[in-house]
Amino acid sequence: MSPKSPAKVRKVVFPVAGLGTRFLPATKVIPKEMLTVVDKPVIQYAVEEAIEAGIEHFVFVTGRGKNAIEDHFDLAFELEATLKARGKTAEIEILRTTRPLYGAASFVRQQEPLGLGHAVWCAREIVGNEPFALALPDMLIHGQPGCLAQMIETYNTHGGNIVAVEEVPHEHVNRYGVVALGKTFDKRTHSITAMVEKPKIEDAPSDLIISGRYILQPEIFAKLELQKPGAGGEIQLTDSMIELLADQAFIAYQFDGKTYDCGDKIGYLAANVAYALDRPDIGPKFRPVLDALIRG
Ligand code: UTP
Repeated sequence: MSPKSPAKVRKVVFPVAGLGTRFLPATKVIPKEMLTVVDKPVIQYAVEEAIEAGIEHFVFVTGRGKNAIEDHFDLAFELEATLKARGKTAEIEILRTTRPLYGAASFVRQQEPLGLGHAVWCAREIVGNEPFALALPDMLIHGQPGCLAQMIETYNTHGGNIVAVEEVPHEHVNRYGVVALGKTFDKRTHSITAMVEKPKIEDAPSDLIISGRYILQPEIFAKLELQKPGAGGEIQLTDSMIELLADQAFIAYQFDGKTYDCGDKIGYLAANVAYALDRPDIGPKFRPVLDALIRG
């Protein structure tokens, strides 16, 4: 590695401690990250995206009632023994490829859902003093290569902090964190000059929203430690990124891909339809069923 190469991104943080109130009653017992898109839990798509990007260690910030996530990424000994006894090798292979390597996953609890920024801060001891990726699993991003792989490539060129952004209709900007752009590096890559969380529509500096994938430097943790509650009374990650922007470079990366917000019912339903249609084993059988449903 040349002396100028930025430090390798080895770890990813998945904040999964939110209450998922928009999906009650489904999320009373089942974590929203375990809801399935076609036949895989939403969280598994994010883990696979991170693996594709070369990430080596997976940090899950969980909360009460989220044990199913830890179990999902563990060895299900009895199940695998039963499948083996029945000669179900394909099913065993599905389970085997779902598991992180021994010791490659860590779980830490956010004891109270005080906000996304607080959840990220809870990962500080496990991440340590190195850059890390952050992925909000309910933002499902369909891209080839995946969004994190695209961002790591951008990071390897520019270093610093990278924030995935996407354009939304102007009337929706008040629901998200919004960035203001400075210098253009290429059509997808720009420096960030300002960020604002949930601005009034008339105050938004652009139509580019922060969309759930980040590469952050470890100095963010010191900012989060002192962060006061912001929008919605929660400790907001964007507020700490705004503070870090005074010290470090941030890049907005407009990824190539399509986002489905699986934290929202319409986004979740759209993801199921889109991913099913895209699957070679399901799409051709599902399409006529869907067509008939739409025709009524
Ligand atoms: P959301 O804004 O989607 O909140 O969190 P939520 O609580 O999960 O869902 P609703 O709005 O009640 O339906 C965005 C991401 O931040 C995580 C969530 O798990 C999700 O991945 N999060 C949020 C935490 O880990 N801790 C928190 O305190 C808040």
